[in-house]
Amino acid sequence: MNAVILEKEKVSITEAAPGKIGAEVRGWDVTTFTKDSPEMEMLRQLIYRNKVVVIRGQYDITEQEQVNFANAVGRPQVYFQANYHHPDYPEIFVSNNLNEDGQKFGVSGTGRYWHTDCAFEKHPLSFTSVRPIFFPKSARETSYIDMARVYRELPDDLRRYVDGAMAMQEAWPRYKVQACDIDRSIEEIIEGFKTECPPIAHPAVIQHPVTGEKILYISSGFTSGLVGLSHEENERVMKALFDFVEQPKYVHTHFWEDGDLIIWDNRPLIHKGSKAKPGEKSRMYRIGIYDDLPFYVGIDQ
Ligand SMILES: [Fe+2]
Repeated sequence: MNAVILEKEKVSITEAAPGKIGAEVRGWDVTTFTKDSPEMEMLRQLIYRNKVVVIRGQYDITEQEQVNFANAVGRPQVYFQANYHHPDYPEIFVSNNLNEDGQKFGVSGTGRYWHTDCAFEKHPLSFTSVRPIFFPKSARETSYIDMARVYRELPDDLRRYVDGAMAMQEAWPRYKVQACDIDRSIEEIIEGFKTECPPIAHPAVIQHPVTGEKILYISSGFTSGLVGLSHEENERVMKALFDFVEQPKYVHTHFWEDGDLIIWDNRPLIHKGSKAKPGEKSRMYRIGIYDDLPFYVGIDQ
């Protein structure tokens, strides 16, 4: 780790060692930042270089302040499914197992599988920022895998399947049933959601628009297979790819502390949330942020 201490401002920035991921910033107050703050360009470069950045000490920031911060970094996303929205701040995607005064508030049990946010959209999400509101006692972590490193280390017998290939990204198997689905058949629900969010193909290997790195852009959460392979071939090849990707040696785990605000680049990272035990409180506020660069080299913006 490379620690840079800027004494005057009492800011410390610790960057990842070469080949590793994860930077840590202490001493920033994100509620004071605007689009023109010099810290914003510094933060974007930290994200591209380190892939995930934790900003410590962001206690008690309000929903509005979190939205303002997202606006300072880039362009906040409003997620396409309104049942995830905070009732007063549609930019805030609420992952939550607690309801407010008996009213449903956000969605529980989100993202507990390897994935990259919104891979199933035509323009996937550049950055994700997350701030925990309640931590479950038993599960205070989010895990990441650097898919640029995985691609660099991918053996030739797997690489030959993904180089130049397109991979199908599909959200429907992860659809969360809502109150409005009562009395609809499973088939109707799936077909309705596929109409709203149809499967889409992206290259299985993408190139980062800033770092130029090549990245294996697949995840066991959203990628259903490679275009052009038979069903049986896909079953075999995707299992071999995911077994290689999800090796413990590639997993970087962030252990949450009170006051953490984390932000990562969805291009090179897949991630997975941890699961709270029944009865434990869990609430996270996520805001997706577009950096308004092409998601990968070759896609229109
Ligand atoms: Fe996610």
